[in-house]
Amino acid sequence: METLHCFLFDVCGIKADWKMQDVLDEEIKTIQNMVGPDEHVICALSGGVDSTVAATLVHKAIGDRLHCVFVDNGLLRYKERERVMSTFESDLHLPVTCVDASEQFLSKLKGIKDPEQKRKIIGREFIAVFDDFAHELEQMIGKRPEYLVQGTLYPDVIESCPPPGSGRTHSHTIKSHHNVGGLPKDMKLKLIEPLKLLFKDEVRKLGSILNVPDSFLKRHPFPGPGLAVRVLGDVTEGNALEVLRQVDEIFVQAIKDAGLYDIIWQAFAVFLPVQTVGVQGDQRTHSNAVALRAITSEDGMTADWYYFQHEFLVDVVNKICNNVRGINRVCQDITSKPPATVEWE
Ligand code: XMP
Repeated sequence: METLHCFLFDVCGIKADWKMQDVLDEEIKTIQNMVGPDEHVICALSGGVDSTVAATLVHKAIGDRLHCVFVDNGLLRYKERERVMSTFESDLHLPVTCVDASEQFLSKLKGIKDPEQKRKIIGREFIAVFDDFAHELEQMIGKRPEYLVQGTLYPDVIESCPPPGSGRTHSHTIKSHHNVGGLPKDMKLKLIEPLKLLFKDEVRKLGSILNVPDSFLKRHPFPGPGLAVRVLGDVTEGNALEVLRQVDEIFVQAIKDAGLYDIIWQAFAVFLPVQTVGVQGDQRTHSNAVALRAITSEDGMTADWYYFQHEFLVDVVNKICNNVRGINRVCQDITSKPPATVEWE
C-alpha cells in the first residue's frame, strides 16, 4: 500500500479528491441524460444491498418511471417479505410491486431432491414471473419499458474481461442475475448499471448517502435460490420451510443480540431431512435435526467457521429446542471453505 501510495501521489502527482457525493451526482446526471422523458425502467429487487442501492439511485434520477418488482418465491426467511417491503415503501419510497409467486415456485419444486434441478427450476420460474410483470406493466403504461437496472459491481466487470492473450474478446453480456436467473431474450432491454465502477464497500457508502438503512446495507448475503438450498432434499416435505424459518430467526437474532452480526460474514440454519431420537419433557421424540452455520470471510470465496462462546451456543440450542416444534437436535457446522462450500446445496 505504501509503495502504491508513493507511486500514485508522489511520482504521478495525482490527487485523492474523489468523493462519493460526486459519484452520486454524476450518476444521476448520466441516467437523466440517458433515459428520455417518456421512457420507463424496470428493476428486480432481491432485498440485497446492490439491487436496493441501484434502484434507490435510479429512483432519485427519474422518479416513478422506475418500476421495481420483488418476488416472494415462498423461499424467503422469517417475515422477510414484510420487512423488506416495508423498508422499500416506508423508508426508501421506492415504487415496488410485490408478486406473491410462492405457490407457483413451490408446486414446481414438489418432489424435487436434486440441488441442481432445484436451482434450475427456481431460475426458470423467476424468468416467468419477471416476464409476466413486464407484460402487465406494458398494459398499464401503454408501452414497453426500455431499460433494466442491474446492480453490477466492478468485480463483475473485471471478471467479464478475458485474460490478456486468451484470444477471447470482451463481451459485455447481461450478468445472469442469481435471483432472476437470466432474463428473457426477447425483452431487448438496455442496461443501466450505476454501480459498475464501485466495489462492495463503496456501494455501502453510496447507500448510506442515499439513506438506505443500515439494516439493509449490513445484511448478510442471501443466495438467490433462498431457503431451497438450506432445506436439504424436497423443500415441500412436511413443514420443513416453516421450521427452518423459526430456527434461523432464533439463531440470527441471538447473533444480533450478542453484537456479533457485523463481524460474521454469514450465519444461517440448515434443515436436515434426518430424524433422530430425543427426549423432551417426559416424552420420547423422533424429530428432525438442524445444523447451524456461521462463517467469517472476506469475499465468500474462502471462509472460516466462527468460534462461538460455549454459553452462547448453550443458550441458542435451548431456545431452539424449547420453541420450535419438530426439532430435537442441533448440530454446528465447523467446516471451513474449502473443503466445504458456504451453502449446503
Ligand atoms: P458457496 O456455497 O458457493 O457460496 O460457497 C458462496 C457465497 O455465494 C452465495 N451463494 C449464492 N448466491 N445464488 C446467489 O445469489 C446462488 O445460487 C448462490 N449459491 C451460493 C452463498 O450464500 C455465499 O455467500
